[in-house]
Amino acid sequence: CSTTSVIKCKAAVIWEHKKPFRIVEVEVAPPKANEVRIKILASGICRSDDHVLSGALQKTLPVILGHEAAGVVESIGEGVTSVKPGDKVIPLFLAQCGVCSCCLHPKGNIFDKATGLMADGTSRFSYQGKPIYHFVNTSTFTEYTVVPEYSVAKIDPAAPPEKVCLIGCGFSTGYGAAINSAKVEPGSSCAIFGLGGVGLSVIMGCKAAGASRIIGVDINKDKFPKARELGATDCINPLDFKKPINEVLFDMTDGEGVDYSFEVIGRTDTMVCA
Ligand SMILES: NC(=O)c1ccc[n+]([C@@H]2O[C@H](COP(=O)([O-])OP(=O)(O)OC[C@H]3O[C@@H](n4cnc5c(N)ncnc54)[C@H](O)[C@@H]3O)[C@@H](O)[C@H]2O)c1
Ligand SMILES: [Zn+2]
Ligand SMILES: [Zn+2]
Repeated sequence: CSTTSVIKCKAAVIWEHKKPFRIVEVEVAPPKANEVRIKILASGICRSDDHVLSGALQKTLPVILGHEAAGVVESIGEGVTSVKPGDKVIPLFLAQCGVCSCCLHPKGNIFDKATGLMADGTSRFSYQGKPIYHFVNTSTFTEYTVVPEYSVAKIDPAAPPEKVCLIGCGFSTGYGAAINSAKVEPGSSCAIFGLGGVGLSVIMGCKAAGASRIIGVDINKDKFPKARELGATDCINPLDFKKPINEVLFDMTDGEGVDYSFEVIGRTDTMVCA
């Protein structure tokens, strides 16, 4: 039961780097074959969206950013079988298409087809007749979006959208870094540089893995109460110390350093420290 109508709705569009979002009425075309149109119910904001704004990530503008959302399927294109209108879903920015060499490789699925356009080389978004680019197969800062079928995960209809939207990026990235990438063991010590959405999720992963020392590092001390609530045993602010924070971490761990160090800010200097 696919619809054929264009939907007019509001979207936050980036027109120029380092300039504010502008909310305009865009047109969202119906889903083509193997595509799904989603009504967005909630969307988080990830630092990676800001990396586009600053010009460090995807350069093609204008674009509708946002990649951490939950929504409801509004309509489906021909051939779509995994979801139907009314299903609650999370759009996926690192999905498995199942056919490219990356997705077929046993070591991972870093998927490289997120070009800012759909598979047929066109966009489903337009403003005053001009196309607007998609972002990493998601584009969630809009009331409606269109994504490939493989970029959609069906979720429990009872899941609260404003909470589970974080599974779309920040939570999975951080928790997965601790559990799947680092494979933190019980009793280990961990440092987490940056206590944003992703860093806090790293803390949750370290705690679940049984780490005994979880040290949060952030220049914004307002992040510390939440970090402690989620499992940080210590929180330190580099601005409170004269010596480099990596030396402070050595002092805190009897000169041994931590077993695992996560950089969750996105800066070269803090990566070196970590
Ligand atoms: N799949 C992925 O690879 C993936 C997914 C999500 C996010 N990211 C990246 O992870 C990073 C974190 O994302 P986020 O959404 O949690 O960001 P965020 O902006 O919510 O959090 C960053 C935190 O770092 C702190 N910070 C900034 N400068 C600092 C400094 N010099 N020293 C210590 N703390 C400092 C800030 O106060 C803030 O609390 C970003 O670079 C983002 O692009 C990558
Ligand atoms: Zn993200
Ligand atoms: Zn693929």
